[in-house]
Amino acid sequence: MEKKIPITFEDAEDFPHYGEMVLVKPGDTLLPIGYRRLANTIYNFEYRNEDICLFTYPKSGTNWVAQILWGMTHINELQRATTESVDRRLLLLDNDFLHDVSEKDYMERLRAKRPEAREDDGPALQLAALEKGRRLIWSHLPFNLHNPNILDKCKVVYVMRHPKDNMFSRYIHFNKVAQGPIQYVAETFMTGDTIYGSYWHHVNEAWKRKDHPNLHIMFYEDMKADIMAELEKLNQFLGTSLTEEQLKRVAELTSFNNMKDHPTMVVNIQGFQGSFLHKGEVGSSKGQLPPELDAQMDAWIKDNALRVDPAFRYLS
Ligand code: A3P
Repeated sequence: MEKKIPITFEDAEDFPHYGEMVLVKPGDTLLPIGYRRLANTIYNFEYRNEDICLFTYPKSGTNWVAQILWGMTHINELQRATTESVDRRLLLLDNDFLHDVSEKDYMERLRAKRPEAREDDGPALQLAALEKGRRLIWSHLPFNLHNPNILDKCKVVYVMRHPKDNMFSRYIHFNKVAQGPIQYVAETFMTGDTIYGSYWHHVNEAWKRKDHPNLHIMFYEDMKADIMAELEKLNQFLGTSLTEEQLKRVAELTSFNNMKDHPTMVVNIQGFQGSFLHKGEVGSSKGQLPPELDAQMDAWIKDNALRVDPAFRYLS
């Protein structure tokens, strides 16, 4: 029997580019209005033991890890990554309520399998249900909006990135589609009045599950420092038993330079067409914020990180 998702909705102001929004409580997750219709279906989505999910707050390195997970589970067909977009190889659940990604493609693929399928029921959700065997599924929704049994069913990888770099990456990204001063992007990031809402709620939902054996938390900063060590940890977690040579091939396939200008990384969002990879660095926000705003963010991070968990590594 379907469980009812324990959330409430509040009206929210329109958000640049995404239009009509809804605020989800608890957690203050701000989402495009289309989420409302699908909230229960997503919450009840049935995962399989062999599935692998990737959850992140946007701009944390999602596409990087998406490519890695795909590469590690498709080591004998890596050449597909050079021609097929990441959306073709992994299923983005949020596709069903974000209007700036490839929902047309999902709908076409779905209709080819089930001509009577309705767009309103979510093309990605239906495609995922129809797909046989292991599915690679990614989403930016926080844990509390996913099936509460997910970790007992399948493996989930969660990626975190320093909030200041995360915000700066978001600023660069949004500036491509909807101009906005950094002051505005940083302030809405701190208040959570931005798409996907509160950063702290998102990471906290993952952090409180960190001891579950089916959850693997990765830090963008660790990946930048030593990608092979992180791939080795993933190899253990996923049980993929890849050799060092195979892991090196995955690292090479997913290196920043290989990904940046790759045609499959080009996005076409309302007038902006180009790679959405910017610098791909740790500390990309350094020196980019007016000093007062920089200090305000530092204080906000310190304050919130302490409340999340003293072990939260951004403090170091
Ligand atoms: P920057 O904007 O700082 O360059 P997401 O995929 O969650 O939207 O995250 C995007 C960020 O991850 C961007 O950060 C992007 O450059 C970075 N990224 C993507 N692929 C990467 C890679 N292979 N190596 C390092 N960073 C990468």
